[in-house]
Amino acid sequence: MSIVVDEETLTFTINTCASTYQMQVDNHGYLLHLYYGAHTDGYMGYVLTYCDRGFSGTPQDVADRTYSLDVLPQEYPFQGMGDMRNPLFVVRDAQGAYGCDLRFNGYALTPGKYGLKGLPAVYASADADGAETLSITLADERTGLEVELLYGVLPQLDIITRAVVVRNTGDSRLIVKRLQTACLDFVHGDFDVMSFFGRHAMERCLDRHRVSHGAFSIGSRRGSSSHQYNPMMVLCDHDAAEDSGKCWSMSFVYSGGFHASVEKDQFEQTRMQMGLTDELFSYPVEPGEELVAPEVIMSFANDGVGHLSQNLHQCIAKHVCRGYWRDRVRPILINSWEAHYFDFTGDSLVELARKAADLNIDMLVMDDGWFGKRDNDTCALGDWQPNVAKLGGTVGELARRVNELGLKFGLWVEPEMVSIDSDLYRAHPDWALDVPGKPMVLGRDQLVLDMTRADVRDNIFEQLCAVLDEANIEYLKWDFNRSIVDVFSRPARDQGQVLYDYVLGLYDLLERLCQRYPKLLIEGCAGGGGRFDAGMLYYTPQIWTSDNTDAVNRLAIQYGTSFGYPASAMGAHVSACPNEITGRTVPLSMRGIVAMAGGGFGYELDLLKLTDEECDEVRAQVAEYREIAPLVLNGKYYRLASPFTDALCAWEFVAQDGSEALVAVVLCEVDGYGVSSYVVPRGLTPDAMYRDVESGAVYPANALMDTGLPLATMTSPFSNHLFRFKRVDA
Ligand code: DGJ
Repeated sequence: MSIVVDEETLTFTINTCASTYQMQVDNHGYLLHLYYGAHTDGYMGYVLTYCDRGFSGTPQDVADRTYSLDVLPQEYPFQGMGDMRNPLFVVRDAQGAYGCDLRFNGYALTPGKYGLKGLPAVYASADADGAETLSITLADERTGLEVELLYGVLPQLDIITRAVVVRNTGDSRLIVKRLQTACLDFVHGDFDVMSFFGRHAMERCLDRHRVSHGAFSIGSRRGSSSHQYNPMMVLCDHDAAEDSGKCWSMSFVYSGGFHASVEKDQFEQTRMQMGLTDELFSYPVEPGEELVAPEVIMSFANDGVGHLSQNLHQCIAKHVCRGYWRDRVRPILINSWEAHYFDFTGDSLVELARKAADLNIDMLVMDDGWFGKRDNDTCALGDWQPNVAKLGGTVGELARRVNELGLKFGLWVEPEMVSIDSDLYRAHPDWALDVPGKPMVLGRDQLVLDMTRADVRDNIFEQLCAVLDEANIEYLKWDFNRSIVDVFSRPARDQGQVLYDYVLGLYDLLERLCQRYPKLLIEGCAGGGGRFDAGMLYYTPQIWTSDNTDAVNRLAIQYGTSFGYPASAMGAHVSACPNEITGRTVPLSMRGIVAMAGGGFGYELDLLKLTDEECDEVRAQVAEYREIAPLVLNGKYYRLASPFTDALCAWEFVAQDGSEALVAVVLCEVDGYGVSSYVVPRGLTPDAMYRDVESGAVYPANALMDTGLPLATMTSPFSNHLFRFKRVDA
């Protein structure tokens, strides 16, 4: 059993292979957090200290001035009983009063991992994964409010998940004003916080700084998880590195607005928390109703952020991503966007497909511009009927022509959006989110459909099904190209529920498609990586990492992304040079090696413009990717050097059984007669010998992992190499 309950002391302990999480109900019924760290068999109640701290108040019935929730480590901090730090939960009752008093009301243990109604969540079974669920219910006697804290454990992966269900068992309406999911209180420590910031075309850059007094927070108020801050955060020892130091992470399994923070308080205690943003949030819960706070995945590693990332990779790749494509190598694709933008015809796409077939590429994706009157980005979103004149037939006919060349066929859609200049908007202007009487805010000239409405979702679902049923479409790119600014939905009871219900509506639509087309590969996208989160990965096992395909910038973007997400989830393509966004030119070999670090490998350029020499190189890349793809999909990922701080960038995939490894190195900077560079692999089988597949040289694993490999031939900027090693016995 991973979850142990001491009935007498009401102590709850969750054990994974390498970590322990502990909490206890105290004498007053409050649930206190005791510990989350390296595996221990002990009782951690001794960490609690009590003394009169002046301005920290005491619940009336406790009658002991040394007791205050303002100081004690909390499991689910709420507003109302004296904890003046950042709360996770705020509620208003029917009289308009704020505040509740959540005390222990019971618990239950169940085998397997809980699921969440209408929301994505980690899945794991009792038998295969040893998963278990602990549910602890807190109750507020005055209002009839119940708060159920759910904990899931995947012991082998060192993963603990949390979610919260709020129930109104009283007889009058409650308004939930803040509903966050997870909190970690540390009674002391000297920590750094890592977060992943960016912008369109420069997502998930690593930021790291020391936690000091006050709150550091990240979040999104854009209706999507956003390019600007990813819903994933790491807290670690100040001196933690890739392979040393204690690290804790939180990842939000949700694709809308969020808020995460780390706060060091007046007593040098630290609180890390994550959940829904409370901006524009105000959710009525009527008697008998419930409201679910989306899941947070937590992990702990005692030995560095590299191991922490591997825990998250395994959890997301195998227990969040689902379905037919989860464990399958994905097709190598050519996407029409950077090749043609809107300027294509059915014939020009067939020519692109013909060339792709010649280069052994697997699939042609027809990107934006195939429907309605869409020859630019100002119109036609919402009109998901093919432009037959432009395509020279239906989508099905075009797909057939592409299939006849031996290629699969894929399609771009942006189902949550509508253009003002569209038949859908002309027929249903009230289906778009806008605030009556206020000038609308346009993004890329488009509006956002009200996905809270079942009739809107049904319409879009039926339109998409009409295309998917008519054509042999094996892949869908699901785009989302603006932030949500205007929040007003005509059917909503309270406009404060719209942004949350929007995300539930999105998930409902995606789930219906996943159920109806189980073999359809869906790639998520939001102007590149503006919605790269564990929520989307439940429906779309890969996500277009960024619109920025410049290989130098991609080193940083993919490096940052790798902290929280597996390589199998990253869409990465080779594009033309000079790069369309940065104007930079780098060798095709480097563009290839960088794109091959993702599970969704492909090309994003006009293949017909390649020289014969470049075509040969592309054929070689395609062949090489086919060989390494299983390792990229299933291997353990190591960051060997950082594009932010090192002169070279390097990463590695090692087979789970250590039988093979792949080390990719790119030289970013070159100085005159510079010092020799070395790359030091990790995770090889100690004491074994490894053969370099290309040169035949045999190296002892211990030496490779100690001194490393010299990179003597890499002297020019952007020179790069992919080393492939096989264990000699393998
Ligand atoms: C934004 C995406 O990120 C691009 O790859 C492309 O699909 C365009 N949208 C199409 O409008």
